[in-house]
Amino acid sequence: MSKSNNHLFNIIIIIISFGLWVLYASAELQRFTQPCKGDGSLDFLVLGDWGRKGEFNQSQVAYQMGKLGEKLDIDFVVSTGDNFYDNGLTSDHDPFFEESFTKIYTAKSLQKQWYTVLGNHDYRGDAEAQLSPFLREIDSRWLCLRSFIVDAELVEMFFVDTTPFVQDYFTETEHTYDWRGINPPKAYISNLLKDVEKALKESRATWKIVIGHHAIRSIGHHGDTKELIDQLLPILQANNVDFYMNGHDHCLEHISDTKSPIQFLTSGAGSKTWRGDIHETDREGLKFYYDGQGFMSVKLTQSDARIEFYDVDGNVLHTLTSSKQLYSSY
Ligand SMILES: *[C@@H]1O[C@H](CO)[C@@H](O)[C@H](O)[C@H]1NC(C)=O
Repeated sequence: MSKSNNHLFNIIIIIISFGLWVLYASAELQRFTQPCKGDGSLDFLVLGDWGRKGEFNQSQVAYQMGKLGEKLDIDFVVSTGDNFYDNGLTSDHDPFFEESFTKIYTAKSLQKQWYTVLGNHDYRGDAEAQLSPFLREIDSRWLCLRSFIVDAELVEMFFVDTTPFVQDYFTETEHTYDWRGINPPKAYISNLLKDVEKALKESRATWKIVIGHHAIRSIGHHGDTKELIDQLLPILQANNVDFYMNGHDHCLEHISDTKSPIQFLTSGAGSKTWRGDIHETDREGLKFYYDGQGFMSVKLTQSDARIEFYDVDGNVLHTLTSSKQLYSSY
């Protein structure tokens, strides 16, 4: 190689490495910081599968959330997706946003940040509309991204876009999906899994919670999501995740993993429920299943977690508690 060729070669290498660096850096999941209460504790509500202009008891669930939100002095709300039925939003100017969100969750205690992921029904509309900053101008509570991290000191929460994992959605002809930003899905998923794995590995938070729309384990209408069992679950099992929270099945549900301490928690009962199809009631690890409307609350301290499921009248249906050994060995 001549001297000038050599020089050119070096420049090309520099450009390529810079390009790779940019690609790598931009692939990192966006992070948000959420402060705890003064005493170091944290309370939030988890709701899924809800936006129907108040119908199918959406307003009644919202009312109970408001009451409990005040009692617990909640710090924020999590939505597990399927935010707007049946087909998401048509654009970021769709009045359905206010009709099914702003005008429904009106209680003072619910005027907090809402951390939201997309569900498969959201992908049937203009998926990018829900990510639009314009919605935050209409209602500042709204924060929806495909995948992101909320760092709330004692807990790190990893929100994962699960819809592109489900292969059936790419082949079914009954519905159309807005796959802008997802193509090619294989690369999208593999990058996402890499980002989630890296972030989980690096996390030093006491609690680790992963949130997605689709269930990993469920005995409800849709049941387990095979793609998530194969691709996401091993990463969660290897990285000390405490809870996986999801919607999709319109029910409230608690299943314990048989191979790790992970608890699978479904909160997808924000409006239409009572489908009546419950499979495998003898499923190993099944702790609780309720086919009606409701939501979930989570209370965390450095040492304890307390999770409760509520029905449309605000009755506690099921409680799960979990403790961390303080001064653990790392
Ligand atoms: C609303 O909740 C009540 C009380 O649980 C229930 O009886 C009723 O069937 C629910 N309505 C719908 C449409 O699900």
